Amino acid sequence: MSRKIIAAGNWKMNKTAKEAVEFVNALKERVADADSEVVVGVPFVCLPGVIEAAKGSNIKVAAQNMHWEEKGAFTGEVSGPMLADLGVDYVIIGHSERRQYFGETDETVNKKVHAAFKYGLKPIVCVGESLTQREQGVTAELVRYQVKIALLGLSAEQVKDVVIAYEPIWAIGTGKTATSEQAEEVCAIIRGCIKELYGSEVAEVIRIQYGGSVNAANASELFNMPDIDGGLVGGASLKLDDFEKIAKYNK
Ligand code: PGA
Repeated sequence: MSRKIIAAGNWKMNKTAKEAVEFVNALKERVADADSEVVVGVPFVCLPGVIEAAKGSNIKVAAQNMHWEEKGAFTGEVSGPMLADLGVDYVIIGHSERRQYFGETDETVNKKVHAAFKYGLKPIVCVGESLTQREQGVTAELVRYQVKIALLGLSAEQVKDVVIAYEPIWAIGTGKTATSEQAEEVCAIIRGCIKELYGSEVAEVIRIQYGGSVNAANASELFNMPDIDGGLVGGASLKLDDFEKIAKYNK
């Protein structure tokens, strides 16, 4: 299996531009020999400094959101060309916090995914069920629905470059990690859905991460599951020791 594990930090609304640069300067030496692809998802204002600090290292940089339009009267928003111009590699799209607090829907996620490709950014698309939905037994249907709509209209070649982050909402920031079996079950369902829609070649290549209370102690077990290709890491990505251990998980 040739999928490269992707260890992506999602800093959320944490760290000033100065703190971010200090962090990445320290991180780049620590992860220089990591086998995984290391990504830091930082606040917009941290992007220029972090991109500069990460130059020549193996750290890639992600934005945490983008608008789907190129430019215009959208106060407070940031567009794909603005991110691409800075040298951003990835963009996190449809995080559950964006869906919950900022009204993002599967349809806006789909528009943003198209915009990401248009401007040369690789999308990390987040999907996942709430605790109620899990208890109602609709996790598989819901996640398949979210994935289908997020990817609507993309070519098979584009889908190969998408990263999907399966993040059960009940596991985010709660310290309540999904068991590796629970996480694997849903990641395998997502891969099955990709296979139905785009064929086995695409399903074999697309990377599917798990997110939700990933930490230095549980990353290795999660990342070694057959259908889990790394993690989208919130809290633990803000700490150098922890994120280094996650990026250098035991194979
Ligand atoms: P957490 O956040 O690791 O703090 O649970 C994960 C995420 O929201 O991406």
